[in-house]
Amino acid sequence: MTTRYEQVKETLKANPKTWLITGVAGFIGSNLLETLLQLDQTVIGLDNFATGHQHNLDEVQQTVTADQWARFTFIEGDIRNLEDCNKAVAGVDYVLHQAALGSVPRSIEDPITTNQANIDGFLNMLVAAKDENVASFTYAASSSTYGDHPGLPKVEDKIGKPLSPYAVTKYVNELYADVFARTYGFHTIGLRYFNVFGKRQDPNGPYAAVIPKWMAAMISSEPVFINGDGETSRDFCYIDNAVQANILAAVASDAAADEVYNVAVGDRTDLNSLFEMLKSALIFHGINYEHDIEYRNFRDGDVRHSQASISKAKALLGYHPDFSISQGVETSVNWYVRAVLR
Ligand SMILES: NC(=O)c1ccc[n+]([C@@H]2O[C@H](COP(=O)([O-])OP(=O)(O)OC[C@H]3O[C@@H](n4cnc5c(N)ncnc54)[C@H](O)[C@@H]3O)[C@@H](O)[C@H]2O)c1
Repeated sequence: MTTRYEQVKETLKANPKTWLITGVAGFIGSNLLETLLQLDQTVIGLDNFATGHQHNLDEVQQTVTADQWARFTFIEGDIRNLEDCNKAVAGVDYVLHQAALGSVPRSIEDPITTNQANIDGFLNMLVAAKDENVASFTYAASSSTYGDHPGLPKVEDKIGKPLSPYAVTKYVNELYADVFARTYGFHTIGLRYFNVFGKRQDPNGPYAAVIPKWMAAMISSEPVFINGDGETSRDFCYIDNAVQANILAAVASDAAADEVYNVAVGDRTDLNSLFEMLKSALIFHGINYEHDIEYRNFRDGDVRHSQASISKAKALLGYHPDFSISQGVETSVNWYVRAVLR
C-alpha cells in the first residue's frame, strides 16, 4: 500500500512548489534541502551560519544533479532582521522555519542571545510569512516544552513548566503561532522534535548533542561521558522521520493546521543502552571502542525521561516513522566515520 508520504512526494514531483527553509545550513535544514531538491522543488534557504556550515550545503550539492542544485537560492541573512525575512519569503509557497539557537546549556549560559534568535527571530518570520500570504508555515518546536510534566508518553496537550530558557523560547513560539491564528487567521503547524539525530548533526563544540558527540569520541577513541547515571532516556528520532513530518505538515489540510505535533518514534532508549548500540554499530566498521563510560553529575535543565505519543501526527498528518533508533544509528555511523576520519 502506498503511504501518505509516498503519495505526497509523487504529487510534489508532478507539481513542484517553492519552499523556504530557514536554518538551511544546519543539521535538519540541510537534510530538508537534500530531500526537497531530490524531489525537484525550488528552494530558498536562509542562514547566518551561527551554528550551520557551508560544508553542509556543499555536501547536499554532491547528492543532487546540476539541474536540481540550480533550483536552490541561498540567502546569507539573519532572522533577527525583518528585512532579511521579507526578502526570503518573497514568492514562497511553503515555509519550513528551522533557524534557532538549539541547546539547553547554551540557553542557560546566554539566555539573551537565545531569546533574540528564537523569539524575536521567530516573530519576524511569522510576520514576514503572514504578510506574504504563504500557503503554509511549519516550524521547529521542541519536546523541551513538556518541561517538568511527569506523564509518559508525552501527549501534546499536557505540558509542564519549562526547565530552561531554551524551553521558554520554544513554548513562546507555540503561543505566538496560536495568537497569529486567532488574530490574523494565519495558520501554522508546530513540530515538537524529540532528539533528532543523523548525518550532518554537528559533533563539535560544547553544545553538541549526545549521539554525534559520542560517535565522534568513540571513533577517535576518546572518553565518553554520561551526565547522571545513564538511566536518563530519550525518544531518539532519525532525521528522515523528521524530514517526512515537515513535508507532510507543509501540505496538510486546514483541519490539521493550528496544532502542534510530536515528531519522534514513540520509543524510549536510555543512555547506557544507547552507548552499547553505538559500540555495536561501530564494530561493523572495524572500530572497537574499548573504554568504559565515565559518569558525571546530572546536568541542569535536563528532563529525566522523554517518550512521545505519536498518535496525533499519525492520525492528522499521516506520519509513519520509517526508521527505528537502531536503523537510524546504523545508517548514520557510516557518515560519522567518514566525517571524523576525513
Ligand atoms: N536537533 C534536535 O534534536 C532538535 C530538537 C528539538 C528542536 N530542534 C529545533 O530544530 C531546529 C533545527 O535544529 P538543528 O538541530 O538543525 O540545529 P542546527 O544548529 O544544526 O541548525 C540551526 C540553523 O539555524 C541557523 N541560525 C541560527 N540562528 C540564526 C539566525 N539568527 N538567523 C539565521 N539563521 C540562524 C544556524 O546557523 C543553523 O544553520 C531548531 O529550531 C531547533 O531548536 C532540534
